[in-house]
Amino acid sequence: MGPKSSPKIFPPFQLEMPNTEAMDLSDPPSTSLDVDSDDDFLPSSASAKRELPWVEKYRPKSLTDVAHQTETVATLTNAVATGNLPHLLFYGPPGTGKTTMALALARTLWGQRIFKDRVLEMNASDERGISIVRNKVKNFANLTVSKPTAEDLKDHPCPPFKLIILDESDTMTVDAQSALRRVIESHSRITRFCLICNYVTRIIAPITSRCAKFRFQPLPGESMKGRLLEICSGENVTVIPEVIDKVISLSNGDMRSAVTTLQSCYNLTSGGAVKVSDVEEMSGRCPTKAVEPMWEACKSKSFSAMQTSVEDLVCSGYPGVEILKALSSIVVASPLLDDSYKAKVCVKIGRADKTLVEGADETLQIMDVGGNIIKAFEARRN
Ligand SMILES: Nc1ncnc2c1ncn2[C@@H]1O[C@H](COP(=O)(O)OP(=O)(O)O)[C@@H](O)[C@H]1O
Ligand SMILES: [Mg+2]
Repeated sequence: MGPKSSPKIFPPFQLEMPNTEAMDLSDPPSTSLDVDSDDDFLPSSASAKRELPWVEKYRPKSLTDVAHQTETVATLTNAVATGNLPHLLFYGPPGTGKTTMALALARTLWGQRIFKDRVLEMNASDERGISIVRNKVKNFANLTVSKPTAEDLKDHPCPPFKLIILDESDTMTVDAQSALRRVIESHSRITRFCLICNYVTRIIAPITSRCAKFRFQPLPGESMKGRLLEICSGENVTVIPEVIDKVISLSNGDMRSAVTTLQSCYNLTSGGAVKVSDVEEMSGRCPTKAVEPMWEACKSKSFSAMQTSVEDLVCSGYPGVEILKALSSIVVASPLLDDSYKAKVCVKIGRADKTLVEGADETLQIMDVGGNIIKAFEARRN
């Protein structure tokens, strides 16, 4: 693509011929491309490895190591084999392997050595406005790829394009996304894009229609259990099955949170036996037990008792949103209230949750919910 002009070197890349035709030369070339987000660039000494957080240490390196997302793995493996890679859009809840999959794909395509030259990875810590698309992304997309050596080609297909991974792209402004649309189109001969987000609806339609979409599902308990047990044996840690089950049930299919909770528990007990209660403590969730005094106070229909219990609960340091979650599970499971009353209380809990996220006062909101529970107890037929 483009005329063969005199070779130019753009730091920090030593690429052969920049495509001057499509490049906007008024834009200064980027000098710091953040490709160092992965463990490839971490010190490889044994002690440094030991100190790595487990989520990084046990991040799957190859496509087939990624648990559960079988369809995505099969499609991408096929794409690697044929060298025919479309633009990609990975979406799904956190901790399901999206970033891991993108990095594993890049590593499979190019191998460790030229990975740095071929991949630009940007995440939410970078600025997400239109200027970043005009400068950093566009400049990288413009760069012509260097020729892989025979050694690179031996183990990896090394297709003649680059990969731009835009992690957490749902935080990009709409203007930036619109600018990206043009870049995707005009550079698709030498560049592929991999967009990663939690909410696909926050990506504008012209971009989603240009990409092959892959939905990442929360990991089921069985897959998580397998991975967690592997980590335990890799770390020489013995934990009782109840602890693993508790970690899984608290993480809701988020593998990152499961691994982090497990490591925190292990650190907390400094290598000793981890108890189920430690898991609850470390996960930051509010256990239902903590909300029981408030529930009892509501049952007694005493407003002042409810107020005292709410104040105690807030003082104990649990986040308001977590308190509401614990409360909702008690309300839903309770045989004491009819479904219609449960529904009313749940609507109230939902509203309180929204107002809390918007910055309302925790004590007042939880008391409001408590008041409504008292009302439900007063109104029910005895
Ligand atoms: N499908 C999976 N298989 C194995 N490990 C996973 C999977 N998904 C997440 N993990 C673990 O969770 C960590 C975070 O995963 P990541 O890919 O960054 O999640 P996200 O979907 O939020 O980008 C990884 O380092 C890995 O240890
Ligand atoms: Mg991610």
